[in-house]
Amino acid sequence: MPPARGNQTAPARILFRDRDLRNRCVLPTAHAPGGRAVPDGRTEPVTDRPEFVFPATVSLTGQGLRLRQWTEADVPELPGLFDDGEVAHWTPLASPFGPDDAREYVTRANERAADGTRIQLAITTDGSWPLGEVGAFGVHTGPPGVSIELGYVVGRAHRGHRLAVRALTLLTEYAHEELGAYRTVLNIERDNAASNGVARSAGYQLTRDQPLTREHRGRLAELRIWQRLAA
Ligand SMILES: CC(C)(COP(=O)(O)OP(=O)(O)OC[C@H]1O[C@@H](n2cnc3c(N)ncnc32)[C@H](O)[C@@H]1OP(=O)(O)O)[C@@H](O)C(=O)NCCC(=O)NCCS
Repeated sequence: MPPARGNQTAPARILFRDRDLRNRCVLPTAHAPGGRAVPDGRTEPVTDRPEFVFPATVSLTGQGLRLRQWTEADVPELPGLFDDGEVAHWTPLASPFGPDDAREYVTRANERAADGTRIQLAITTDGSWPLGEVGAFGVHTGPPGVSIELGYVVGRAHRGHRLAVRALTLLTEYAHEELGAYRTVLNIERDNAASNGVARSAGYQLTRDQPLTREHRGRLAELRIWQRLAA
């Protein structure tokens, strides 16, 4: 079992690499103005925007959980969490997900944390044993503010204990209260009953926004957009 980590506090404000855009409406300015083309010819919001920087180290406690950064000590546990048919069906994670994938996953998660493009947190109860992941995977900046896309996976052996809804609630509140997001969003397929249940239970509402379309393992996946607005 990996050792418990010390508690670290994330900066309590949103950071931008080049300038502080918080509380200002900004139009998309990144490498693909207006959005990125998706397979059906429409566009989707630009994610991982270079000027938006997440805090490099985030650790959140609440809801009976501790959400913490991934570490090398977690590598042997990752296949047990992610090498799963439902994870393969509903998420872009590697399938099969073996030891090499696990090593690469932790390395990339740490790189993305360091460069501020993502937050990826192991879901734990006490800071030690990882049970799943919750993360902030994309950002859209533009009127009326910053919108952050969140996502989650829980290992099959640990499902049904409200881990996903509790972890999502914790990260959602952090995104609203500490990162200043006016809303957080989830992109979920209609038939992913478990994920739709998590969204509902964490206070998200299905929007009328145009669904996103992504090619996923040889099929076109239509992702409906759920949102939770900051209080
Ligand atoms: C989706 C997932 C993270 C749910 O994890 P979990 O910890 O078991 O979910 P929770 O226990 O927090 O459940 C939250 C709610 O969803 C409901 N729910 C969970 N699984 C469900 C299922 N298979 N069918 C219907 N509802 C379900 C629960 O009943 C609960 O509702 P309640 O609050 O009214 O009791 C997990 O099934 C998973 O990792 N799936 C594969 C990866 C995935 O789909 N990720 C999301 C991509 S958008």
